[in-house]
Amino acid sequence: MTDENGTIESHPLHHGEEVESYPPSAEFRAQANVNDPSVYWRAAEDPEAYWAEQAQRLSWTKPFTETLDWSNPPFAKWFQDGELNVAANCLDRHLAAGLGDRVAIHFEGEPGDTRTITYAELTHEVKRAANMLTSLGVEAGDRVAIYMPMIPEAVIAMLAVVRLGAAHSVIFGGFSAESLRARIDDARAELVITADGGYRKGRVSALKPTVDDALALHGGGSTVERVLVVRRGENEVSMQEGRDLWWHEEITAFDGAHEPRGFPAETPLFILYTSGTTGKPKGILHTSGGYLTQASTTHRDVFDLKPESDVYWCTADIGWITGHSYVVYGPLANGATQVIYEGTPETPDWGRWWSIIQKYGVTIFYTAPTAIRACMKVGRQVPEQYDLSSIRVLGSVGEPINPEAWRWYRDVIGAGTAPIVDTWWQTETGAIMISPLPGLTALKPGSAQVPQPGITAAVVNEAGEQVDHGQGGLLVVQRPWPSMVRTIWGDDQRFVDTYWSKFGDQYFAGDGARYDDDGDIWLLGRVDDVMNVSGHRLSTAEIESALVEHHAVAEAAVVGADDETTGQAVVAFVILKSQQKLLTPEGAEVELRQHVTAQIGAIARPRQVFVVGELPKTRSGKIMRRLLKDAAEGKEIGDTTTLADTAVMQTISARMRGEL
Ligand code: WT7
Repeated sequence: MTDENGTIESHPLHHGEEVESYPPSAEFRAQANVNDPSVYWRAAEDPEAYWAEQAQRLSWTKPFTETLDWSNPPFAKWFQDGELNVAANCLDRHLAAGLGDRVAIHFEGEPGDTRTITYAELTHEVKRAANMLTSLGVEAGDRVAIYMPMIPEAVIAMLAVVRLGAAHSVIFGGFSAESLRARIDDARAELVITADGGYRKGRVSALKPTVDDALALHGGGSTVERVLVVRRGENEVSMQEGRDLWWHEEITAFDGAHEPRGFPAETPLFILYTSGTTGKPKGILHTSGGYLTQASTTHRDVFDLKPESDVYWCTADIGWITGHSYVVYGPLANGATQVIYEGTPETPDWGRWWSIIQKYGVTIFYTAPTAIRACMKVGRQVPEQYDLSSIRVLGSVGEPINPEAWRWYRDVIGAGTAPIVDTWWQTETGAIMISPLPGLTALKPGSAQVPQPGITAAVVNEAGEQVDHGQGGLLVVQRPWPSMVRTIWGDDQRFVDTYWSKFGDQYFAGDGARYDDDGDIWLLGRVDDVMNVSGHRLSTAEIESALVEHHAVAEAAVVGADDETTGQAVVAFVILKSQQKLLTPEGAEVELRQHVTAQIGAIARPRQVFVVGELPKTRSGKIMRRLLKDAAEGKEIGDTTTLADTAVMQTISARMRGEL
């Protein structure tokens, strides 16, 4: 079967069928950073030697002699006797190489204000900020919380913190006061860097008031001593005497003289919280040398970065791991020129992203399938009004990209020729693990395909044995990798239990996957109670516990239902307390959606809340979420024979149709 593009149409997951594939063009391959396929087997023969070679591209104040210490698994140490300064690797060394005049950041604010920041200027600002943080008492080993919009000061703040050997904990600006406070407490942060507000959807969205609320929770008394506030939204904020300081006032006292110190390679670099299968978010800890090695190597090779000529743009917010590795550390370590855009793709209209690509001549563009599907829905006539001919590589991350969205992305944004790298990785892996290499891999829409050189990822069965081509199973990483999570902050046991108890010496990613007949890897989604909504990870347990904290709710069950645009959507089923008389079912939906937003943040707001009389449970009392997921997706309800009361699902379905 052939479609209008003349490519072969097929169902790639079905055994024995032809799969459409797109090999790199001869021209692309010839110029690619990686175009010799022997890299795979050379790295596989001696992964440590491969990574040691990559690490040599960084600048070390003290060279390492030991590549990997795996004597106490699963606690890895990479390059541990070496020392480096991560910020100096992203800044000072480019100046020393004569690249100070290169643009580091083309900043585009949502209202249309712009700033062009060279490497020399960025270095200068980070040095000043580091001096300012020192004056506020920040020292090596401390943690600093960052709660900021997507503005250059967010990047400056991150780099200033790590320049001092301290670690940052960036909290996405969409999180609530409760979530912010929980993260501040867990990391015991003494300083919060925030902004008055940032622009979102044409309005100023306030941040500082949320910090105030967070610090006032639980009777005040947090670890936080100072709050540093960047002025951006110019919204009115209250400043607490003795605690709150304006960045622009404080910074004037500091000049740009600051010598970076080298810190041991295993110095904590950042903590980033992510949802797990229980209600409590996990503080994923990343350290310095190994993380920077893999973030920069993958950024250069997967995106085929040519720092002297490319204009790179990753649309992720710095509140997520993609923003850490592929807005801040990877690109800056590589001396790339990049675009940072503050706002949303639909402001003032759906042409905004494409106008930015045209304006700056973006050559490498990295975004998420959910955004691509949203743009597809609006229609190709919008991007077609812009000149996107500068694009030469496209990237995708966050969830499996459906082949239809893949083809649209390639045809409409990539002129039918740009390679698409579908990059699989996680907050825990720190950097890209499975992805095509654009100069080598014949691309298959919908598949992340190949483990990166030096990475041994595999699909295994329940016994941990690799499955055959054409078979499915669970995704594992079999050998330690440089940018791997080092532990869950303050909870080594949870780290061991979560990732290493299932298979012992293999890292369990939590994803299902399968090999096709060629041995390429196709990701099939999470196998645990973790949802993926617009490429963001949410825990069913966390949202359920937020719901039952509401005074009217007796019980709650949450599922991730398939959604055309967001991949999955949060759908909640709640039983209201029998004595409560305040909420009607319609009122409950509005109130509980709002409640979850206030408790966790807007990203967790349920698409729907259904009030039901009972939840489907097994005889031992376990909620059968699988059946609720069927109902939420409007599918025929699966096998109900193990239910304690087999009629429950009929009642729920009738209630969802509005019949009860
Ligand atoms: C989970 C990790 C990595 C940055 C963004 C999300 C899913 C991620 C892909 C992809 C299929 C993907 C997995 C993974 N995922 N990228 N290319 N194909 N699935 O980071 O919040 O830590 O979520 O996102 O399920 O486990 P995260």
